[in-house]
Amino acid sequence: MAPALILSPPTSWYTSADHFAREMECVHRRSWILFGRADELPKPGDYRAIDTVGGPVIVVRGEDGAIRAFANTCRHRGSLLLSGSGNRRAIACPYHAWSYRLDGSLIGAPTMPPAGPGGEGFRKQDWGLHPVRCEQWGGFVFLNFDHDADDLVSYLGDMASTLASHRPEDMVTTWRIELDVRCNWKLLVENAIEAYHTGTVHAKTVGAQKSVELNTTGNWVCIQVLSDTSIAVLGEAPAPFPTIAGLSDEAKRGTYFTMLMPAIQLACAQDCIWWLDVRPVAVDRSVLTVGGCFPRATAALPDFPRHAALYYDRWERVAREDAGMLEVQQVGLSSIAHTPGPLSPREVALAQTYRWLEERLG
Ligand code: FES
Ligand SMILES: [Fe+2]
Repeated sequence: MAPALILSPPTSWYTSADHFAREMECVHRRSWILFGRADELPKPGDYRAIDTVGGPVIVVRGEDGAIRAFANTCRHRGSLLLSGSGNRRAIACPYHAWSYRLDGSLIGAPTMPPAGPGGEGFRKQDWGLHPVRCEQWGGFVFLNFDHDADDLVSYLGDMASTLASHRPEDMVTTWRIELDVRCNWKLLVENAIEAYHTGTVHAKTVGAQKSVELNTTGNWVCIQVLSDTSIAVLGEAPAPFPTIAGLSDEAKRGTYFTMLMPAIQLACAQDCIWWLDVRPVAVDRSVLTVGGCFPRATAALPDFPRHAALYYDRWERVAREDAGMLEVQQVGLSSIAHTPGPLSPREVALAQTYRWLEERLG
């Protein structure tokens, strides 16, 4: 008997601003999102200000070495405090000069009268920056606006053990780019976990790929694209960088394309990890960050910059090929005649992500 068809979701999932608002509320602002890597903020005082699904956020390494995150909004009257990245000993508001320590506590607020003897009035300890939850795994730094959400390690489930032999905590970040993509965030997520499209969309780069699905527990899905040699770089020849020391036999069979729900992809090859992180901006607009890291020993090789440029070229070209395709798909989805179509057997991981979303959207 032929298997029952699994249909893709209703068109409104990709085109309705109301549905998008519901996803933001029920999913993105309650899930772990990716900031980047701890090694991108190596010294006390190093910070980067970013835009997120919950608004602007500052991520900063404190004097004690801990990385913390705060809403990037002054407790006085809400000005943005920092932009870009750099190093600060304290955070001063550009508007009326309230200033904060790197742990978020308020240092000073000019002309504000001190609290009275009974603690009434303005008490500095009440007006620190609003913290955003910030936890790490494998050198990756994650944020969450929901103070009741599961801790990161529980959220990851067996993703941490599956990727343990890649030793991501020993890697160093060497590259990142950001792309504006005019499509719904889910199109980027779906594209990242099926290799059905690679023979057509990536005919000139990575080409057709063979993949298998993994059974997972936790908030992630995974396919492994099978290849004896790293597919993080283009070409027939063996990849230029050595296999990660201690990599498991399972991991040596290919590249894990993981999707940590709702929108974080880690692509774990035999010699490196690169990631694609999707930030929903509007129902038909997303920002895609692509970054990459290598084992410290690899990044210290004398020829590293020359060879690594081949990886960056592959990551960017393939990401742009996908983004271009997905913008075309988004336009097609705007047809009033569009109806959900059936998934191929090579797209079963998509059905897992739909179920995950349905559970949260109710
Ligand atoms: S808004 Fe920041 S000090 Fe006034
Ligand atoms: Fe692709």
